Amino acid sequence: MSRGRVAVSTGGGDAPGLNAALRAVTVAAVRRGWEVIGIRRGYAGLLEPGDAGLLPLDRETTRGIAHLGGTILGTNNRGDPFRWAVERDGVRAAEDASGRLVSRFRELGLQALVTLGGDGSMQIAARLLERGLPRAIGLPKTIDGDLRGTERTFGFDTAVATAVDALDRLHSTAEAHDRVMVVEVMGRYAGWIALAAGLAGGADAVLLPERPFELERVAAKVREREAAGRRFSIVVVAEGAREREGALAVRAGADAFAEHPRLGGIGERVAAGLAERTAKETRALCLGHLLRGGSPVASDRLLALELGAEAARVLDETDSSGVVVVRDGRPRLVPFAECTGGFRPVPEDHPWMLAARGMGISLG
Ligand code: F6P
Repeated sequence: MSRGRVAVSTGGGDAPGLNAALRAVTVAAVRRGWEVIGIRRGYAGLLEPGDAGLLPLDRETTRGIAHLGGTILGTNNRGDPFRWAVERDGVRAAEDASGRLVSRFRELGLQALVTLGGDGSMQIAARLLERGLPRAIGLPKTIDGDLRGTERTFGFDTAVATAVDALDRLHSTAEAHDRVMVVEVMGRYAGWIALAAGLAGGADAVLLPERPFELERVAAKVREREAAGRRFSIVVVAEGAREREGALAVRAGADAFAEHPRLGGIGERVAAGLAERTAKETRALCLGHLLRGGSPVASDRLLALELGAEAARVLDETDSSGVVVVRDGRPRLVPFAECTGGFRPVPEDHPWMLAARGMGISLG
């Protein structure tokens, strides 16, 4: 006799470490006598007819995945069941499918949901609980590192490592050509990836969403380096950064199915502005989705495994719902509300900010 049935889903943008977390939740829950059912593509697997959207998970189906990027379940960052996309008379419209989702959950005999996601997924889980979902346990995933209520999220360290590797490579070509290289990185409205990668990757300027910048100050940094004989510069800019009087760079606006606009393009703007002000040859590149890819670094795997096993313990030993976050370096269950309703910005007095300032890195 099984202890019960638990569903697991991955939602929002993928992040390295999701598969490790799936492995840990599954193995630890199965060892405690639970049956684990994976839901494919966020919540879509529960809203589609039949069982094709469900994937039974056990030791075998999760074997050898902890080191893989992506998610074996698939994911969706436009799959909010409260604004589910349906086609009516050839027109796409948003409808509230949450009631249907909760009914299906109960029909399948599922007692709890473990949801691996960021702020959007946590918000959805909290609303589903209000709608009648029996239980939900969240695990904090995002490359952006910006989830409220937790000190860490899995995916962040790998994204930073990938960006740092790119910056290391760009140094030699920037220096060889005496150029200014402007590197745009993801992170949505927070500058965690830009700051960590810029600092570790030896950038000369780092531009963050938290502090609207003045291009003239960045140009002054480039000129100052030139005067000191350093004829190249590296600028890291977060996709959500903007000029003091400028607007956010947006590639596509939010719509009925997606909470956030698609950011992008600030790197090009900064490069053009610096070329104009410094008369230096300038190139921009956007690391974009590269930062979401690849094998999770060891620290992300460890975090995902630690939190995944803890989620299974909470599931088995308590009746509680909430998010398993990191506080004072240890896993702790907190209410969903502590992780939702905004994001965690980089504070002005964060040690990485102090280090950047102390080293004379321009913050624009
Ligand atoms: O939240 C993760 C993230 O990669 C952000 O850094 C970025 O703004 C967004 O998702 C990109 O989403 P999409 O995959 O829809 O382009």
